[in-house]
Amino acid sequence: MKLTALLLSLACLPLALPLTNAAERATVTVNVYQSTSTIGSRFVGVTIDAWHAQVNWNGFPFSSKKVVNLAKAMAPNILRLGGTAADNLTYDMSANAPAYHGYSSIFTPKPWEAINQFVENVGWDFIMDLNALKRNADGSWNPDNARELLQFSAHRNYTIAGFELGNEYDIYEYKYGKALTPAQLAKDIASLQKLLKQFPAYYSSYIIGPEVANTKTETFQGFLAAGGAKVVYASGFHHYYYPDTDADPNRFTSIDTMDSFVTSSLLPMTAQSRAVDPDLPIWLSETSTTWSGGVPHVADRFIAGFLWLDKLGLCALHGVETVLRQDLYGETYALLDSQGEPRPDYWLTVLYKRIVRGPVFSTTAPKDVRVYSACAHPDHFPAGSVVVYMLNPKNVPVTFDIPQFASQPRMIYSLTGWGGDRLSEFMSLNGVKLQLVHDEVPEMKPAHAPPGHVTAPPYSFTFVVFHHAQVPICSER
Ligand SMILES: *[C@@H]1O[C@H](CO)[C@@H](O)[C@H](O)[C@H]1NC(C)=O
Ligand SMILES: *[C@@H]1O[C@H](CO)[C@@H](O)[C@H](O)[C@H]1NC(C)=O
Repeated sequence: MKLTALLLSLACLPLALPLTNAAERATVTVNVYQSTSTIGSRFVGVTIDAWHAQVNWNGFPFSSKKVVNLAKAMAPNILRLGGTAADNLTYDMSANAPAYHGYSSIFTPKPWEAINQFVENVGWDFIMDLNALKRNADGSWNPDNARELLQFSAHRNYTIAGFELGNEYDIYEYKYGKALTPAQLAKDIASLQKLLKQFPAYYSSYIIGPEVANTKTETFQGFLAAGGAKVVYASGFHHYYYPDTDADPNRFTSIDTMDSFVTSSLLPMTAQSRAVDPDLPIWLSETSTTWSGGVPHVADRFIAGFLWLDKLGLCALHGVETVLRQDLYGETYALLDSQGEPRPDYWLTVLYKRIVRGPVFSTTAPKDVRVYSACAHPDHFPAGSVVVYMLNPKNVPVTFDIPQFASQPRMIYSLTGWGGDRLSEFMSLNGVKLQLVHDEVPEMKPAHAPPGHVTAPPYSFTFVVFHHAQVPICSER
């Protein structure tokens, strides 16, 4: 077809037909006059499953320069050691305990030293999930073995910021054939609290509970109402979207999947906790995308960030104090692979920690994209700075208009899969592949952009910092 003929035929097209490659537009407003909650320094943390400890941490290079640098870049940070394997550990802290017992449930000083030295070295807070299955004949928790672990730890001056008692007690009947009642767990955690008071080193350590897998009122709110709210520092629940058996990557960029967290977990769980005690902090204390380790070639790729960043935005908006990501290393959905190489969600987590901190604002945007906002981190941006972060889960560019900041210069962190591939193993920041440089975490600088709109590439995350915003709520430090 000749060019003139093409133009003529284009001119005859009905007006409603979208022009190919034309960016879609989204108008965003931020309510900077009122914050819904506040993101603190320990908003995002990680977990490690206790089964790794049984096998010498699966050889994870905790003390390598690379892992130490990656971990330090995440500080301040919380690490929780827990999961199903933690339920039935027997702590053998005797001097003659062998280094490792393999896959048995005997836990010896060697893995305990390794993890405690690591958290101390990198400046993280540590949470230990204790063995809830050690029970007396009357069904109550027997704290004797936990006491041995605490004695050993206190003697070594290990700092343990917090404790849990058991993992997902609401599915104990399914897992172990024996149910634990909400009232019994509340009593058991009261015993744990008493035990901690016997140790000056752990007198002020906090307790998170009940660590439920499901959203049943009976086991979450029921635990809190049966005395649980009085003995925990924060109520804790877990969340995964669906099982690993569904390998369709499109579900990771689906607004329906994102919304399923809000309707089936976040809203009911925060409501249950607040119904018992409106002031009790709420933690999403173990969470990832799909359960059982993560969908191969999806959960470890750039695309996994959609559900992760959306979850962080939602939790911040709804006042969740801390979100612990399952997990630090090893599994497909982990932030680092088993050799300690960072995956895209590692970079996303570190950038989130550097950029977003302080009061959170509600944001309005079209329903086919996701947009969140908060104050920008006061250590890295001028007082009064605001960050708006948007997820473009579509295969077309989206141009964001934020009229209230239209006349202001901004700093932009545009994150995509390397080469624009949403299934890439790598993440690009402003077009440059993120990677360690001689085992050091690179600086990760923003691009400076003039006033106007912001165009987000297909399948991307964009953090836009308005460093001249002078928002009063973000200036009060
Ligand atoms: C817990 O471990 C003990 C050994 O210490 C074992 O006898 C018991 O069967 C285990 N319980 C469960 C539920 O796995
Ligand atoms: C623990 O701290 C105390 C007091 O600071 C000190 O005397 C002791 O040597 C430390 N123990 C170890 C094992 O580091």
